[in-house]
Amino acid sequence: MMKGLKKWRLFSLLAVMTVFLSACGEEYISTLQPAGAVGKEQFNLLLFSITIMALVTVVVSVLYIYAFLKFRRSKQGEDYMPKQVEGSHTLEVIWTVIPIILLLILAVPTLMSTYKLGDVSAMEQVDENGNKTELIVDVTAKLYWWEFAYPELGIVTSQELVVPTGEKVYFNLKAADVKHSFWIPSIGGKMDTNVENINKFYLIFDEESEGLKDGVFYGKCTELCGPSHALMDFKVKTLAPEAFDAWVASMQATEGQTASQDSTDLGEATFAASCLGCHAVSSVTGMPSGAAIGPNLTTFGDRSHIAGYLEHEKENLVNWIKNPEKYKPGNLMTNAYDPKKFSDEEINALADYIMSLSVEQ
Ligand code: CUA
Repeated sequence: MMKGLKKWRLFSLLAVMTVFLSACGEEYISTLQPAGAVGKEQFNLLLFSITIMALVTVVVSVLYIYAFLKFRRSKQGEDYMPKQVEGSHTLEVIWTVIPIILLLILAVPTLMSTYKLGDVSAMEQVDENGNKTELIVDVTAKLYWWEFAYPELGIVTSQELVVPTGEKVYFNLKAADVKHSFWIPSIGGKMDTNVENINKFYLIFDEESEGLKDGVFYGKCTELCGPSHALMDFKVKTLAPEAFDAWVASMQATEGQTASQDSTDLGEATFAASCLGCHAVSSVTGMPSGAAIGPNLTTFGDRSHIAGYLEHEKENLVNWIKNPEKYKPGNLMTNAYDPKKFSDEEINALADYIMSLSVEQ
């Protein structure tokens, strides 16, 4: 009776764990459901290593349990002395050679993948006109947001990375203030963004993000960087190549776009007077990568989230402008202006104006 109960408990525990673990597989954020060639290769390597390690664990456990049961004193008697194997050449050779073979089996594909995925030589390739042949994105991590500049295309955006599917996208990764780390769990990575050097790698985006939750893949900062580290999210919109080209063209068409203090629109006039010093509303800024003080807001209306993690609703934007410290402690906007100087009417108009900034049809 007791035995039956224990088995039943074990079975329930396994069932609960299966249900629990099955929730790990959300396509927009799960390493276990890779949506790009780099992520798939890393995932396969992970499975391969775990299989070999599990095999070793099983074989060792079986041998241990076998010896444990077979050589019990109650079975063999008090005076039983098993065969002594100290110094046995055969055994020494077996338990030296087998681990070496297993390590080689692990090392060869791991090293091959590491070198393949670390190959960024194509970033230097140019065509006959001297233009880079590969798509390159400069990522700059800041407290607590992300800037994405496309130096060859002359455009910059923030918080939402937009990339084409089916080709290698190369990244120059750096940080403007403290160490952060760039990670898109479903796609591959991660890699640190440092202040003192530029890290490079590439990712491949195989799937369009449109059908996913919020229409995006989720990206994360994975280096503890301050009180709002856990809120330092970004999103990734992956588009078919033609749609990406159209997006680039509409981003480039924002050249010269600005906000005017003389505008009859209260929101635009307020923005021009108080926000334009830090936040651009044109994605063609001509500034070097990483130079922007605050996130570029040209595509604010197209984003899926506010401040990287709040729902994309005007109310959240109003609350954010009124008290950014409450939503992202330690962020640099808090001390850049005094929200009390705005009337409710001005904040409301400001939020309407910012939500209206868009390059998508
Ligand atoms: Cu930035 Cu953690």
